[in-house]
Amino acid sequence: MGAGLDDVVAALRAASSVFVLTGSGISAESGLPTFRGVGGLWRTHRVEELASPEGFARDPSLVWTWYNERKAAHHRAKPNAGHTALAALEDLIVDFTLATQNVDSLHRRAGSRNVLELHGSLHEARCTQRAARRPFSDDGLPMSEIEHGCGGRFRPDIVWFGEPLPHAAWTAARDAAARADVILVVGTSAVVYPAAALATHYNRRAFVAEINPEATAISDSVACVLRGTAAELLPRLVGGLQAARAR
Ligand code: APR
Repeated sequence: MGAGLDDVVAALRAASSVFVLTGSGISAESGLPTFRGVGGLWRTHRVEELASPEGFARDPSLVWTWYNERKAAHHRAKPNAGHTALAALEDLIVDFTLATQNVDSLHRRAGSRNVLELHGSLHEARCTQRAARRPFSDDGLPMSEIEHGCGGRFRPDIVWFGEPLPHAAWTAARDAAARADVILVVGTSAVVYPAAALATHYNRRAFVAEINPEATAISDSVACVLRGTAAELLPRLVGGLQAARAR
């Protein structure tokens, strides 16, 4: 194994508390596009039009068409070896927390249990005016059902730009990052806050490792950079930890 991997395995072996932050890159090998990379969603769509309250108010049908397409893609996608490796890692670490920026639910489908969905998930829609909620099924939300009787509109129950993160998920993630011995940052460009702050802002003593084929905004601030894909490197990390423990 490369020097970097050995260092991360050694840190995991000594760790009792591990925090993992993931982004869209971990789902790339499940066939889901990232946001800012080559062919990324923000390369071909305007974020303001599709993932903001203002964009939704301007054209709710466009936004629902886009989220219905993403929901169908999530339904077709399967967890990859990176998701599965993190689910296996959770079984090896006493205090394990996985915070994801993704809304594709692939971590839960891979078997991860303590998952904090910082940007929500595409399971429900909620009314813009009242507390009404409704399922957001794999078949998508029909355009004829966007309007809610109260005068509000149903919108995807996820976090858009300029909106606060779910309080419970955020505080649990921040506390887990703060107490971690090891922090793994997987498949995120680390440019969207406050989620990106979890990687390096709340813990000065943790061993922080980045798993990403490309450099990111935090590459110069972490202890170890593993240049490669999540589906390749995470199984090698978990395998190395299991082998080290078996010795
Ligand atoms: N394995 C690991 N990382 C990968 C892989 C892979 N196979 N493929 C791409 N990546 C990396 C890219 O190099 C990039 O650094 O994943 C990262 C994806 O970055 P973004 O596209 O910016 O996605 P993300 O960091 O998740 O965006 C954060 O921004 O648009 C909002 O709400 C949206 O949750 C999203 C947030």
